[in-house]
Amino acid sequence: MPKLPETITIPSAVDIHVHLREPSTNKAETIESGSKAALLGGFALICDMSNNPGRPTWTLRRTMDKHNRIWRTSYIPVATYAGSQPESNNERELPKMAPLSIGLKSYLGETTGNSREYAAADFKDIWQLWDLLAPEKPIMIHRGSADLDEIISFTAGELGHRTHICHTNHPDEVEIVHRAKREGLPVTIGVCPHHIFKTSHDVLTEGEFAKMQPPLAHQTDTEKLMHLLAEGYIDIVESDHAPHTKAKKWGAEHTSGSCYGVPGIEFVIPLLLRAEKKGRISRERIVNATSTMPAYIVGLSLSPYTKVTWAMEEFRIEDEQEQVISGSGWTPYLGMLAVGKVQRATVKDKELICDGLIVGEKPQIVTRRGTII
Ligand code: DOR
Ligand code: ZN
Repeated sequence: MPKLPETITIPSAVDIHVHLREPSTNKAETIESGSKAALLGGFALICDMSNNPGRPTWTLRRTMDKHNRIWRTSYIPVATYAGSQPESNNERELPKMAPLSIGLKSYLGETTGNSREYAAADFKDIWQLWDLLAPEKPIMIHRGSADLDEIISFTAGELGHRTHICHTNHPDEVEIVHRAKREGLPVTIGVCPHHIFKTSHDVLTEGEFAKMQPPLAHQTDTEKLMHLLAEGYIDIVESDHAPHTKAKKWGAEHTSGSCYGVPGIEFVIPLLLRAEKKGRISRERIVNATSTMPAYIVGLSLSPYTKVTWAMEEFRIEDEQEQVISGSGWTPYLGMLAVGKVQRATVKDKELICDGLIVGEKPQIVTRRGTII
């Protein structure tokens, strides 16, 4: 009889940084395809960002539109962020959006949906307003080239507001956050799988398909980031699952335009479980950084019944048609080795995956802190 792979059961993952792209002009993903990729990747909750191309989540109407679509088509619970930029002039909308949102996202640097760099001072009014409206709901920072000390000392320092620094690509940022934490400020920092499993060298061969904001790091820094994650100086892993169609990436490649972002949520946990197998990170850190801590940042907790059983089989990410679930149809992790296929997944009382197959759905919109998933 063939030997069955070992299985492990761990708490489901929570991803506080995804882009489901619906509704928007970006057709690489839908709530349905993105949440399916998340479910099959071991996640029980994903938090959707606000920079939907052409339809940023800047109004109550757009928030409700997104929520209606989540109810209709998501496989798993989803929370959404409110967006506000200096040019969005939506201070009259934010009070209506705050109760329906899990946090606020601020884009200080150039990326999909934002074409300029801002200074921390440009956002102070927005952050102050958010602090009044939703004192316990985090401010998520896409830093760009703005001064990190200045951002943190205003949001986490002066306002005392929980602040999360998204997708670090440099150990210096981790050091700044560490210093702020030692002063007792409520600040955390996350890293994306592409910033630890890929390097800036990949841009030479993969072109636009390896471009995102912030960009891939030099190999010495990716190794340091992995170490900082393993040691707990980096609090969480966030996928920044940011799908673009292959056609859009090719378009940017041929015009030297910019099309920042990569998909990949279905492989986050398997890449980490392989890193565990290679002795680079402990299981305890993986669970803390992908489940307990991200849930804490957005103020949620996991039921003991929200868990995933992984069959610990090794595999190679080699067939995009077979293995990629994201609607984008491609992955930046092609050729990499990974460990783990989801055998069973439950969210609270509901079984969503049994024997590796999807058997249920749990669409739910999470808006309130204290919710148990
Ligand atoms: O590379 C990125 N892509 N970084 C971001 O912050 C946004 C994302 C997107 O929405 O495409
Ligand atoms: Zn993002």
